[in-house]
Amino acid sequence: MSKDTHLAEVRTFYDSHPISLPQILEKLERDGVDLDTLTEETLQAYDQDHYSGVAANDALAKRAGLTESDHVLDICCGLGGPARYLARNYGCRVTGVDLTASRIEGAKRLTRMTGQADRVTFHCADAMNSPFPDDEFDVAISQEAFCHIPDKGQVLSETARVLKSGGRLAFTDIVATEATSGESRERLERELAFAGLCTIPEYCQRLERAGFTVRQADDLGEIWRDILIERLAMYRSLKDQTVDRFGLAHFESWDSAYAFFVGQYKIGGLSGVRLLATRR
Ligand SMILES: C[S@@+](CC[C@H](N)C(=O)[O-])C[C@H]1O[C@@H](n2cnc3c(N)ncnc32)[C@H](O)[C@@H]1O
Repeated sequence: MSKDTHLAEVRTFYDSHPISLPQILEKLERDGVDLDTLTEETLQAYDQDHYSGVAANDALAKRAGLTESDHVLDICCGLGGPARYLARNYGCRVTGVDLTASRIEGAKRLTRMTGQADRVTFHCADAMNSPFPDDEFDVAISQEAFCHIPDKGQVLSETARVLKSGGRLAFTDIVATEATSGESRERLERELAFAGLCTIPEYCQRLERAGFTVRQADDLGEIWRDILIERLAMYRSLKDQTVDRFGLAHFESWDSAYAFFVGQYKIGGLSGVRLLATRR
């Protein structure tokens, strides 16, 4: 598959994802939240599209030694939940970048609603061709997103380029294991728009090659297995909303793909990693 075709598939995947701006607004209203006085503190229970919620943001912030003087890049920022959380809780400035226009529109809208648009800004772009100048950021983070990026070397080199020397990259991602089969890779690529999954040692090699020194690599496979079982149940709880928005066939194919994905964690065919690296 060509790179452009893959990127189009990623956009389609996120344009029809169960978590979206309309779904978040609907859930907030259903929960009786006054949207005119929405705060990040309230929104954080709705807008984090990664595993372990805001605790995962704190884990990355702690590893990266985040301070209020840092300018942070959130790569593949989605609807901007982690960016808003870090800005509010650590006092830093955050810039988010994401490929999918509907994600960026949602991120901007939610950020205006929480009154954070002066500290948190967003750009729609492919992270393999970053629109930012060299040496712009002190810290870069990313969560459960590089799994969609076919050329890990390219996204890591781009990240190295836009980080200052000594800048910190802290991220989590879905990774392959020695037990990941070819059939499983193909199915994950076809149904969840993954691309080029690598193992933890391969990630460390690619980081070193892209100009980073790896400081810490934590295998999160076991922790994520339990989280993912709950997450599958959460997506199933959104069935009515997903069917209303995208139809029953879409819900059923999503459910089958996600159940397969979670099943891979149960048999050790996938794992997760939290990596900290510094730019040389
Ligand atoms: C699972 S979501 C994670 C969102 C966010 N990190 C969070 O934790 O809430 C993955 C995101 O990666 C984005 N993405 C995938 N490929 C990308 C690329 N090549 N460049 C930029 N963003 C990309 C998708 O559009 C999607 O919003």
